[in-house]
Amino acid sequence: MKLENNTVLITGGSSGIGLELSKVLIRKGNKVIICGKSIEKLNAAKNAEPKLITYQCDLSDRLQCEDLAERIKQKHPELNILINNAAIVNKIDFFNEETAMELAENEYHTNLIAPIRLINLLYKTLRANDSSAIINITTGLIYAPRVIYPFYNSSKSALHSFTQTLRIRLKDEKTKVYEVMFPAVDTPWHQGNPPKIAIGVEKAVAEMLTGLEKDKPEIRVGGAKILYFISRLAPGFALKKVNQIQ
Ligand SMILES: NC(=O)c1ccc[n+]([C@@H]2O[C@H](COP(=O)([O-])OP(=O)(O)OC[C@H]3O[C@@H](n4cnc5c(N)ncnc54)[C@H](OP(=O)(O)O)[C@@H]3O)[C@@H](O)[C@H]2O)c1
Repeated sequence: MKLENNTVLITGGSSGIGLELSKVLIRKGNKVIICGKSIEKLNAAKNAEPKLITYQCDLSDRLQCEDLAERIKQKHPELNILINNAAIVNKIDFFNEETAMELAENEYHTNLIAPIRLINLLYKTLRANDSSAIINITTGLIYAPRVIYPFYNSSKSALHSFTQTLRIRLKDEKTKVYEVMFPAVDTPWHQGNPPKIAIGVEKAVAEMLTGLEKDKPEIRVGGAKILYFISRLAPGFALKKVNQIQ
C-alpha cells in the first residue's frame, strides 16, 4: 500500500506506538487524525507535532464512538485509512479481583467492540476514497496467551478472527484489510517496567510500515513472528514460554 498522501485516523495516537506512527506518517506527507481519552495526552502530542488533528473520545463508550465517527465524516470525508490501535490491558488474577467483570467489560469494549464499531461506522467513507485500508493492531499473544492478561489475549484473538473474516468479506472490494501483530514494545503501556524482550517503538513502527509497503495482509513484527512459528510447531511449548516471560 502507499504510505503517502493519505488521510489516516489512528485511534490511541496520543501515546506509544500510535504516537510514533503518527509522527512518521506526518513526515511522509499524510494528514493524521488521532483520538484518545486523555485531553492532556492529546495536547502533549499536538505540542510535539502541531500538524496532528486531535479528537478526545472514550472509545469504550458507544455514543462517544458514534460522535467521533460523525465528526470525522463531516470534517474529513476524504478519510481513507483507519488504524484501530487504541487498547488497554488489565493485569489481574481472575479469581482474586473483585472488579474482574467491570474490568472485563471495559477491556472488551475498548479492544474489540470499538474497532468493530468504527469499521461499521466508517467503512462507507473509507470505500468512497482511493487506496482505502483498515489496519487492526493485535499482538503475538493471539498465538499463545498469557495467564496474567485474561481479557487482553482473548479480546485481541477475537479481533484477529474478525479481521480474517473481514478480509475475506472484502476480497472483491477496493478496501484492503491488514493486521499487525506486535511483540512486547517499550511504550508507556508497560508503566515504566517493560519486559526484557521489549523492542524499541521506532523499530516496531518501522517494521510495521515495511510490511504495509510490501502489502502483507498479516504483519508479524519481531518476536511475534517467532512466536507464530513456535506456536504452529509446538503449541504447548509456546504457551509455557510465553508464561515464563519476565
Ligand atoms: N506495547 C506493547 O508491548 C504491545 C505489544 C503488543 C501489542 N500492542 C498493541 O499496540 C497498540 C498500542 O499500544 P501502546 O503500547 O502504544 O500503548 P499505550 O502507549 O498505552 O497507548 C494506548 C493508546 O490508546 C488510547 N486508549 C486507550 N483506551 C482508550 C479509549 N477507551 N478510548 C480512546 N483511546 C484509548 C490511549 O489514550 P488514553 O490513555 O488517553 O486513553 C493511548 O493513546 C495496542 O493495540 C496494543 O494492544 C502493544
